Amino acid sequence: VFKRFGAAAVLALGLQALTSASALAAPAIIPAPLSVTPAPGRYALQSGAAIVYAKNDPQSPLVAQRLQALFADAVGVRLEIREGAPRPGDIALAKAEAGDLGTEGYTLRVSPDGVTIAASAPEGLLYGGVTLWQLATQTPGARGPVPIDAVLIRDKPRFAWRGLLLDSARHYQSPAYIRRFIDWMALHKLNVLHWHLTDDQAWRLEIKKYPKLTQVGAWRVPAGEAPAKDIDPQTGEPRLYGGFYTQDEVRALVAYASERGITIVPEIDVPGHASAAVVAYPELAATDSPPKAVPSDWGVYPNLFNVEERTLAFLEDVLAEVVSLFPGHYVHLGGDEAIKDQWKASARVQARMRELGVTDEEKLQGWYMARLERFLNARDRALIGWDEILEGGVAPSATVMSWRGTEGAIEAARNGHDTVLTPAPDLYFDHRQSAHDGAPGRVKVISLESVYRFEPMPAVLTPDQRRHVLGVQANLWTEHMRSEERVTYQAYPRVAALAEVGWSERRDWDDFKARLKPQLARYQRLGIGYAEHALDGLYGPAPRPAADQRFDHELKLCSEDIALSLIDDAPLRGERATFTMDIMGPCWRWDDADLTGVKALEVDVGQVPFNFQIGKDIEKVRFAKARTAEGELEVRAGSCEAAPFASIPLALAARDPGVTTLTVPMPAALSGRQALCFSFAQPRLEPLWGLDRVKLVRGGS
Ligand code: ACM
Repeated sequence: VFKRFGAAAVLALGLQALTSASALAAPAIIPAPLSVTPAPGRYALQSGAAIVYAKNDPQSPLVAQRLQALFADAVGVRLEIREGAPRPGDIALAKAEAGDLGTEGYTLRVSPDGVTIAASAPEGLLYGGVTLWQLATQTPGARGPVPIDAVLIRDKPRFAWRGLLLDSARHYQSPAYIRRFIDWMALHKLNVLHWHLTDDQAWRLEIKKYPKLTQVGAWRVPAGEAPAKDIDPQTGEPRLYGGFYTQDEVRALVAYASERGITIVPEIDVPGHASAAVVAYPELAATDSPPKAVPSDWGVYPNLFNVEERTLAFLEDVLAEVVSLFPGHYVHLGGDEAIKDQWKASARVQARMRELGVTDEEKLQGWYMARLERFLNARDRALIGWDEILEGGVAPSATVMSWRGTEGAIEAARNGHDTVLTPAPDLYFDHRQSAHDGAPGRVKVISLESVYRFEPMPAVLTPDQRRHVLGVQANLWTEHMRSEERVTYQAYPRVAALAEVGWSERRDWDDFKARLKPQLARYQRLGIGYAEHALDGLYGPAPRPAADQRFDHELKLCSEDIALSLIDDAPLRGERATFTMDIMGPCWRWDDADLTGVKALEVDVGQVPFNFQIGKDIEKVRFAKARTAEGELEVRAGSCEAAPFASIPLALAARDPGVTTLTVPMPAALSGRQALCFSFAQPRLEPLWGLDRVKLVRGGS
């Protein structure tokens, strides 16, 4: 399906949903604060007032500048910034004792003669200011002077870790975008940006001592025939996709995030997800025949780092630079999906295991992580890793990020590890947001409501074990997010639900839905191109497909083993189709097509590369046997087990790298409501054929 995501379209659609927000009784604040106590009277937020901070307070001016910019943009109010004592009408930033509100908590007092935000630290002041911004934007489109009902708000977060993972390895985002991403996180009181910087498909962090990591490792030829034919005139070779972050850029982003209460936790993934690194420096590889070019498949590659002393020294050199760039407490060392085939097959690795007295490959990974953890601990840093690190045995000081469900968090907390919940699929934002959404990504729907209802605290934990649950994080893996707009689309509005899960003590879905409306208006003001589809069925009936047409994502998939919506590799420039399918056996059903009077079907088909590392499962991919050189589209009626009533050769479509419309004549005998079933007979795995749209063509039209 062709998707249009123009900002203008997003804006136009969104505005319809946003009437009557001003009729809400309690102020619409996301995430919901701890306590809100109304008070008599009103304050008028207007130009000429000042944001005032106490003398000798070096950090509040930065907060004041953030708020000044926010209010100017949101409601057109020009606030001054002043040091000293507040005057009537001013917004005072006041220092408070940490007390029971901690460093991120705050009190916000709005009264007819002024506003006071009190907190023990800049984060709390910023969050109080964000809440004031929400109070000032209850009515979409309001411009100053803005009346705000007097109120006393006391607030603090439920969890210390409120994170988002941004995968900059699979696709690269510009520093300018990441700054906006950080701005938006701060407006949701999120405080950890987990930055996934290395993977099989790229190494994106400049390391001065090993320049080839980015000179070589940051660049790849995208998958598919179209990119392979896209020759760069400068090199005579296929054009490379990529980019990396210089250390100067990283330092600037770290500082920018810090001014907004956000810690960047870098991830350097070991010992797996190492392909890009071993292409750059083959001596790091655990195999004698490492890949020669940075690969472009998704999934899990077998490439691991080897266990040589000089490889560990290399990784320690890398970590030394990482530690110098990222001042936060945690460094993420990955540890996920390190299938051990190469370690098992390597005589050198096996010899090293015997030298080290390590009895199996899982424990060898434990040894590996422990070695690097000691390096981090000696520099006053802590290791965090994916839940696989529990399998090899890991020191209690390591923090565990639970992604394979919540089991990892439970086991971690029981064994005395701190833990962060980021389970798949619940908090994997590469899933689509509605059954009507054809956006590229994982097909299983993770709705706004399901994110909102996710409970991070496993019920089985004892009070002592619960203290190990640091918080919650959603992950933006970007295999299927080629552009920054797509990252924003997948993130929003689900980030609003995540924010409340991480921050608020109480949750109320209907109340959240009401509070979301002014929040969506804020998104429009900020240029956050959120997914309109996340709202399907929320404030009115869900969209219904046209009677005579189904897009691929509106058809039923016959199976959902690895169900993805995949982006075409062509055309190189301009919009591309997406194809929703189970890559393990592409097959689509239209269960009750009304075939009365239908003379033919128009079926839009196209090809995508089969660029998935799925190990031995590749033998299980199911296709019917092809009769012709390029295969056929097969169409069945009644059931997918019936004999096909049409089998259309793909020879012509195969010449077109984009989408081709095939016409399928309908036998006269087929009439009434019928199930239609579509699949492809393929002579080989590559390319993978997909459906984009099916249309019923009735006689006489
Ligand atoms: C992961 O999704 N591999 C952590």
